[in-house]
Amino acid sequence: MIPVTQLDLLNKVREEIQTIFKGEGSGHDWWHIYRVTETAKSIAKKEKADLFLVELSALVHDLGDHKLFKGENAQEVLISNLLKKLNCDNFLINKILEIVKTVSYKGANVSTTPTSLEGKIVQDADRLDAIGAIGIARAFAFGGHHNRLLYDPTDKPTLHNNFESYKNDKGHTINHFYEKLLLLKDKMQTESGKALAIERHLFMESFLKQFYLEWEGKI
Ligand code: ADP
Ligand code: NI
Repeated sequence: MIPVTQLDLLNKVREEIQTIFKGEGSGHDWWHIYRVTETAKSIAKKEKADLFLVELSALVHDLGDHKLFKGENAQEVLISNLLKKLNCDNFLINKILEIVKTVSYKGANVSTTPTSLEGKIVQDADRLDAIGAIGIARAFAFGGHHNRLLYDPTDKPTLHNNFESYKNDKGHTINHFYEKLLLLKDKMQTESGKALAIERHLFMESFLKQFYLEWEGKI
C-alpha cells in the first residue's frame, strides 16, 4: 500500500517500527516507543506544536540509535530509507531527521538543544521515559542486558564532557542515575515536560535513599 494521507503514513510507520523493536531487551522495545509517542502527543497538544511531525518523529526516534544499531550514520540512513520506502518527500524526511538528531542524551556536559518546538517535545518525552518508576526499570534492564553491576560503591560517577567518553563508559547502573537520570529534570525543554518530570524525579530520589539503606543492612 502506498500511504496517501498523514494517517496512512503514521499507521505504516507504526507497523514497521513495531516489527523492528518488538523483541528488544535493553529497555528500548516497542512499548518504549509507544510511551514516548503518547507522551509526546499529549505535550504537543499543550504546547500547540505540529502533531503530525511530533508523532512521526517520536515513532522513529530510536531507529539507528548508537546503543542499538551499528554504523556511523545509522540514524540518518535507516530513517531516510524507511520514509523513502513509504513515499515521503525529501522535505519531510529532512524535517524528521532534524528533529530526531538532537533527541539522544550525549553526556552531562554535552549540549543537545533541539532547534524546533517539535524536537524539544520528542526529547522531553524520551527523557520522561528514562526517569521515574519506568526509568528505574529501564536502567536496570539496560544494565543487565549489558552485563553491568547493579552498584559498586568504590566506582564513582563521572560527569562526561564529550559523547565518546559517555558512550564508552561501562560503569554500574547506580552511576547512570548521577550521570544522566537525576540531571534530566533540569534539562527539560518545555514547561509541560518540566511539570511532568518533577514527580518522577522525586520518586528516583526516594528509590536511591531506600537502596543505600538496604545496601548497608540498615533497614
Ligand atoms: P537516549 O538516546 O537519550 O539515551 P533512549 O531512548 O535511547 O534515550 O533510552 C535511554 C535509556 O537507556 C536510559 O534511560 C537508560 O534506561 C538506558 N541506558 C543507557 N545507558 C545506560 C547505562 N550506562 N546504564 C543503565 N542504563 C542505561
Ligand atoms: Ni528512546
